[in-house]
Amino acid sequence: MRLAEEDLDAREKALAAVAREAGELARRLFADPANFSTKMKGPQDFITAADSAVERAIVERLSSEFPGDAFLGEEGGASGSGSRLWVIDPIDGTANFAHGIPHFCVSIALLAGSELALGAIAAPMYGELYLARRGRGASLNGRKMSVVAHADIRQSVIELGWSSRLPARDYTAMLERVLATGATFMRAGSGALGLAYVADGRTHGYCERHINSWDALAGLLLVREAGGWTNDFLAGDGLTKGNPVIACTPGLREALVAATGVGEPNPQLTRRMS
Ligand code: IPD
Repeated sequence: MRLAEEDLDAREKALAAVAREAGELARRLFADPANFSTKMKGPQDFITAADSAVERAIVERLSSEFPGDAFLGEEGGASGSGSRLWVIDPIDGTANFAHGIPHFCVSIALLAGSELALGAIAAPMYGELYLARRGRGASLNGRKMSVVAHADIRQSVIELGWSSRLPARDYTAMLERVLATGATFMRAGSGALGLAYVADGRTHGYCERHINSWDALAGLLLVREAGGWTNDFLAGDGLTKGNPVIACTPGLREALVAATGVGEPNPQLTRRMS
C-alpha cells in the first residue's frame, strides 16, 4: 500500500536524523578497540557488540516515532506487522569494523507495501550521509548523485561482493569472467557502501551472487534514483532469504549480466540457497 506523501515526509525526515545518529554511535564505538570483540555466526561472518547496540538505538527511535511500523533487522530479526517495514543493517562491513578497518556503514531502508520508498546509508568514518526517496533522486551530504554516464567496460571498476554463504568456485568463476571483459574489480567488504559508490559514480557496478535484504535495499534505491539499473532484488523470497544482486550504470547492463550470470533467472543458484 502506498504511503501518503505527508507520512513519507515525516519518515524521510526521521530517517535522515536516525541514520546520522546511528552512524555517530557506531563511530564512537569504533573508537574503543574493546568493541571489536566478536562472536562468529559462521566462517568470516562476524557479529560485534556494536551491531546489537546500534540496531537497538535505531529501532527504539523509529518505533517511538512510528509505533505502527514493523522492523526487520540483521541482528534482531522481525518485529511488528503491517505495510510499513524498516529494514536495518546496523553495521554493514562488520568484518571490517571487527578488524579496525573504517570501511563500514549503517544502512536503513523503508518498504511501503512492496515499494522501496526510502533509503539511507551513513558512513561515519568518512562523514558521509547518502539518502534516497523514490521518485525524488539520491544525494550525498545534500549533493545530487548520478551514476557514471560512460559505458566502456574496459574503463570500469566493478565491485564483486563475496561471502562464505556460497562455494568459492562461484566467486572465482564470476571474477574470471568479469576480468575477461576488460573491467577491473574490487572487494571492500560492505555491500551497502559498494552500492552507494555505484550511485555516486565512483565505481561502475556492484554484483554479488547472494546478499541479504538489510545489506542491499537502501543501496539499491540509491542506485535507481541516481539513474542506474538494478535487478529485481525483492523477487521471490528476497526480503527474508536474500537474493543475487546486480547494480550498474545502464550502459554496462548487458555486458555485466552476461559476465556475472546475475540479473537473469538462475535456477541453479535459487536451488542452492533454498
Ligand atoms: C556483509 C557485507 C559484505 C557482503 C556480505 C554481507 P555484514 O554484511 O555487506 O560486503 O559481501 O554478503 O553479508 O555482515 O557486514 O553486515
